[in-house]
Amino acid sequence: MSTSLGGITLAGPVMVAAGCGGTGRELAGYSGPAGLSAYGAFVTRTLTRDPRPGGPAPRLLESPAGLLHATGLPNPGLDLFLATELPWLVQQGARVVVSVAGRSLGEYARIARRLASAPGVAAIEVNLSAPDAVVAGVLDAREPFHAGGAIAAVLRELPRGLPVLAKLRPDLQRVVETARVARDSGAAAVVVGNALPAAMPDGRPAGLSGPAIGPLALRCVTEVRAALPGLQVVGAGGIATAADARAHLRAGATAVQVGSALLHDPTAAARIVRELADDPAVAATSDPTYDPTPAPTPAPGDRP
Ligand SMILES: Cc1cc2nc3c(=O)[nH]c(=O)nc-3n(C[C@H](O)[C@H](O)[C@H](O)COP(=O)(O)O)c2cc1C
Repeated sequence: MSTSLGGITLAGPVMVAAGCGGTGRELAGYSGPAGLSAYGAFVTRTLTRDPRPGGPAPRLLESPAGLLHATGLPNPGLDLFLATELPWLVQQGARVVVSVAGRSLGEYARIARRLASAPGVAAIEVNLSAPDAVVAGVLDAREPFHAGGAIAAVLRELPRGLPVLAKLRPDLQRVVETARVARDSGAAAVVVGNALPAAMPDGRPAGLSGPAIGPLALRCVTEVRAALPGLQVVGAGGIATAADARAHLRAGATAVQVGSALLHDPTAAARIVRELADDPAVAATSDPTYDPTPAPTPAPGDRP
């Protein structure tokens, strides 16, 4: 059951969301016999040009209906990632989508230039929506104008055919406008979406993920698909079961990302892969020629 996203072929519609599968090594053992190749794609945690230690503890807190996180985007920096983590992921057969963020448009361009020649990168996901962007020291690209600038800066440095996904905030007021700007700037698809901006009890900026944001993310996917039917959307936010994934695919998403559910149950994404693989309705949506628009209701007297 393959899925076509941004012109590349994925093994299926279930992706691991950025930052929620660790380096991949932590998740591989929970992914079944196929390992990381079971997933449509493995999205890395967001990488910055220089290493980042991340923010102070506590970085994760459970809320009654979700997960609060203020990680500060910890990562080894692009050079170390390219030298160690990426080759391992590729060797495991993972379809690797590299998530990136920069402090400026120039830095986005420099990161993209390095990735352009890295073997094994299937796509780039531009994190335009880190809920703690200011604390993490990356460009706060929540304004559509900045989002478009970041996408264009990345695309200018990439060979044709390497798709760029724009990861947006599930902000109902702005998501369609931002998706339109991302599309017009050359994004092959949008990921809708990241965690919702929230706060830790001590007031630090944080993201809220998990079941609490599921229905909101689904509404955002629905609205983007309705307003921009030609744009591929990857649904994310609160997806923990095959039923959640099906709801996004029915709403017109081409693929889905499983995030914080993996912190609770690291087998969640592999289980969703298995359950969807047996679902003929999902197999139909994976066909690139599939049109999710409902067929018009026949008028009385129409012949079947
Ligand atoms: C611990 C943790 C770390 C995350 N790190 C990143 C990250 O590095 N980059 C990113 O774009 N999103 C990151 N996210 C957001 C997820 O990829 C996902 O978009 C969001 O949590 C919504 O999906 P969910 O409700 O399934 O978790 C992180 C989420 C969590 C819980």
